[in-house]
Amino acid sequence: MKMPAPDAALIARKGEIVRALRRIVPGEGVVAEAADLVPFESDGLSAYRQAPIAVVLPETTAQVSAVLAWCQANGVKVVPRGAGTSLSGGALPLADSVVVGLSKLNRVLEVDYANRCAVVQPGVTNLAITAAVEAQGFYYAPDPSSQIACTIGGNVAENSGGVHCLKYGLTTNNLLGCELVLMNGEVVRLGGKAMDAEGYDLLGVVTGSEGLLGVVTEVTVRILPRPQTARAMLLGFPSVEAAGAAVGDIIAAGIIPAGLEMMDGPAIRAAEAFVHAGYPVEAEALLIVELDGPEAECAELTGHVRMLAAQRGADFVKTSQSEAERLAFWSGRKAAFPAVGRIATDYLCMDGTIPRGKLPQVLARIYELGREHGLGVVNVFHAGDGNLHPLILYDADQPGQLDAAEAFGADILKLCVAVGGVLTGEHGVGVEKRDLMGEMFDATDLACQQRVKCAFDPGLLLNPGKVFPVLHRCAELGRVHVHRGKLAFPELPRF
Ligand code: LAC
Ligand code: ZN
Repeated sequence: MKMPAPDAALIARKGEIVRALRRIVPGEGVVAEAADLVPFESDGLSAYRQAPIAVVLPETTAQVSAVLAWCQANGVKVVPRGAGTSLSGGALPLADSVVVGLSKLNRVLEVDYANRCAVVQPGVTNLAITAAVEAQGFYYAPDPSSQIACTIGGNVAENSGGVHCLKYGLTTNNLLGCELVLMNGEVVRLGGKAMDAEGYDLLGVVTGSEGLLGVVTEVTVRILPRPQTARAMLLGFPSVEAAGAAVGDIIAAGIIPAGLEMMDGPAIRAAEAFVHAGYPVEAEALLIVELDGPEAECAELTGHVRMLAAQRGADFVKTSQSEAERLAFWSGRKAAFPAVGRIATDYLCMDGTIPRGKLPQVLARIYELGREHGLGVVNVFHAGDGNLHPLILYDADQPGQLDAAEAFGADILKLCVAVGGVLTGEHGVGVEKRDLMGEMFDATDLACQQRVKCAFDPGLLLNPGKVFPVLHRCAELGRVHVHRGKLAFPELPRF
């Protein structure tokens, strides 16, 4: 993975940059000592590390605005950062950048039950939103596995998902508005409490823009009433192919489970050894199916799912009988990634998405690719969404293994695109998949996307080196194309 060559002249200006940041954010708000920068060196994609020039931790939107305006005026690159749990390197610092951390903007500003929304600062954790509203019977639906730590600003930047996104949508489907600071320091508001916003859907554009368009300083999210009942089912199968086919059957029957997750044999055994969730360790694939709604509806749907699973050869079926048991069933899935960390020195977590009907064939090919690359692979993923998370096992201390793991990962993502899928379901492109964007988009697509980037950040100072394999100077992209003496679209009025 190559990052753009750092600007040595900028790094040499560290003293001046730190002094300027301290004038804007006094007290303890600027981190500049090498030892203190270590915690900010990487994100959840821990294969890559890089210390920035400094980290600044603003406490107000006005400070964020002043920091960005100063950085723009002085040609300093900025990497925004939430809790640093992102999995594609979105928050990975650049050697010649200032990291703007949003952790001190961590207050729930308002809960508005009449409008079914909460207005929060970006550093509020995902789970804290639910904590703020649960006494009234509400919750915030998207639930990334890191929800105890990850923050809502980062969720917006990455359009984060989670196990309940099949029924309730990703962050973008649960977001009503945000306040965004542009690189020039301007503060804009997108969307709000009303059902629809006028003009372009810029909130949709900003959601999942991976810190390339602006820094989110306030977020308005939808909150939902807790369903009356929720039951989780564990379904054990003798093969991943059979479980994959059952996923298609469940959806095709018109059932939309609140969550529909799959774990393969190695993942089941790793998770069971770690948290004792009651998983069938003999099975080669496990589906966790959650059904929610009124009690009678849940009873009907669990019966239907049980029948569909039996038709595909499920030989282990257990339905949660209490809330404690439902949470226990989920505990193995939620802890599956750290559990795999106990059986492998290192792993890379991939995040491709495919049409779910292709699950059986794609899973079979992933195991085959693992054998070809000489590396193990464990699968834990959002089967209902067709969102795969192959965990590629490797040992960073063995020369060449990281390269082999990256090559294996690239092959998996190319496979996802080849069967009609996409490079990322919920972890973002970041640095991890940046160089594969050409598999998905042609030069015209990428240029169109970059024009959007240029409209927000013409100096290309916000989170460069992420998402786009190459960033062109905006002036080059914007130039008028004259072909044989004729302008493109001559019929359009010119202003
Ligand atoms: C999960 C995160 C890693 O699915 O996306 O657990
Ligand atoms: Zn996931």
